[in-house]
Amino acid sequence: MKLNQRIKIKDLLDKKPIGQEITVKGWIRTKRGNKQVVFIALNDGSCIYNLQVVVDVAQLELDTLKHLSTGASISVQGKVKESSGKEQTIELEARNIELLGECDPDKYPLQPKKHSLEFLREIAHLRMRTNTFGAITRVRHAMIFAVHQFFTHKGFVNIHTPLITTSDAEGAGEMFRVTTLELNQLPKTEEGTVDFSKDFFGKGTNLTVSGQLEGELAAMAMGDIYTFGPTFRAENSNTSRHLAEFWMVEPEMAFADLTDNMNLAEEFLKYLIKYALDNCMDDLKYLSARMADEEKVKKESERTMELIEKLNFVLEHDFIRLTYREAIEILKNSKPNKQEKFTYLIGGFGSEIHSEHERYLVEKHFKKPIILTDYPKELKSFYMKLNEDGKTVRAMDVLFPQIGEIIGGSQREENLQKLLARMEELSVPVEEMQWYLDTRRYGTVEHSGFGLGFERLVLFITGMSNVRDVIPFPRTPRNAEF
Ligand code: 4AD
Ligand code: MG
Repeated sequence: MKLNQRIKIKDLLDKKPIGQEITVKGWIRTKRGNKQVVFIALNDGSCIYNLQVVVDVAQLELDTLKHLSTGASISVQGKVKESSGKEQTIELEARNIELLGECDPDKYPLQPKKHSLEFLREIAHLRMRTNTFGAITRVRHAMIFAVHQFFTHKGFVNIHTPLITTSDAEGAGEMFRVTTLELNQLPKTEEGTVDFSKDFFGKGTNLTVSGQLEGELAAMAMGDIYTFGPTFRAENSNTSRHLAEFWMVEPEMAFADLTDNMNLAEEFLKYLIKYALDNCMDDLKYLSARMADEEKVKKESERTMELIEKLNFVLEHDFIRLTYREAIEILKNSKPNKQEKFTYLIGGFGSEIHSEHERYLVEKHFKKPIILTDYPKELKSFYMKLNEDGKTVRAMDVLFPQIGEIIGGSQREENLQKLLARMEELSVPVEEMQWYLDTRRYGTVEHSGFGLGFERLVLFITGMSNVRDVIPFPRTPRNAEF
């Protein structure tokens, strides 16, 4: 390696080229020492560990020394040495330090101390420089890679579905409008409504809430497909599980029923967890310690399993599979329902299963992940396959501890007449969705798919407790900074 060619700290710690002269570049995390020798903890984002740089003060220009403060960026040339310190195996004996970018220690918001997650959200443009957010960012990347690897190995084809759409896939009406119309001078029709024929696309358009509908079109040609893209929901919910812009992984399989769908979901989640355990252990250990720290302030009864133990636990157990009806029976007779502790009390068939109920089932009753199926049709979207009872649909939600719903999916209604009837019942605009209905006209087949909320997955893997902390730049109501 050329002397002034930069080597990443991760590679350096892996290879430990003792005695060699190398160059590293990064940001100073901390500096300590005395008049003779200074120790710098240098991080370059490649791993959770800092490289200890040992500087002989006599060799430095005084001006450089003054600027070696937390947050400053430097390039260091020096010799790799075995370290006598407990915390690291190697260190870098600096021969030459070049200051790349100074950082005023009085103004820099990231001080070498613990900051609250709330404060770090306000400086999201800098928070990836902390251990916690560096670790989350690397784990998130590993999960992105594992998603593509899983589906590629299984022969699924990745489809880029459009972000701008005219249809509301979930029928929940929580879409962001996309328009180039002048908002102060909206063109009107004779009836006085906005005339979208004058808009960019000649009709009203929105940001998509799901890639599923186009995913189904692709599955009807390619067999097995998946989409992985951003989705947008204008729901005004300020919870720790909801974002206005989030990423979703949506596989769709032709010739597959609900059981195939459940099997895929379970295999997929376990694959991702195993991938994290096999490839992200350094970051997971750091995140585990962070989580253990947070748990200390919680009541004994609210504490959860240690992070790595929790991930292994999910890997080692089959998910519980039960129907909505079975779940309602359990919930109806549960202590918090009888004692009216739930915010939403469960009356019987037809009651909506909220996050508090999901978590009761997963965390208190079964103590395992659950796949809940066969919900009442009124609670689910128009495209789900109707069961023979005429009341329930072939829906499935995967529920995880601390998260609640992590996956939502279903077997799709492949029968044209039945699908049309559902669309009419729910006032889904049939005329505008002829392209979707064509799949049921021309060689329709049984098919199924689901959507994994990617941030909820990363939440589970990292042991964090708010989705705003597992996406670099969160979008939530009244917050689109950075
Ligand atoms: O259950 P949902 O709404 O299902 C769909 O959109 C289907 N079209 C998926 C399919 O069958 N292809 O959303 C799927 C998942 C949820 O289980 C949840 O994990 C996540 O997406 N999700 C959100 N994540 C963050 N913020 C939000 N506002 C979310 N809404 C849903
Ligand atoms: Mg859902």
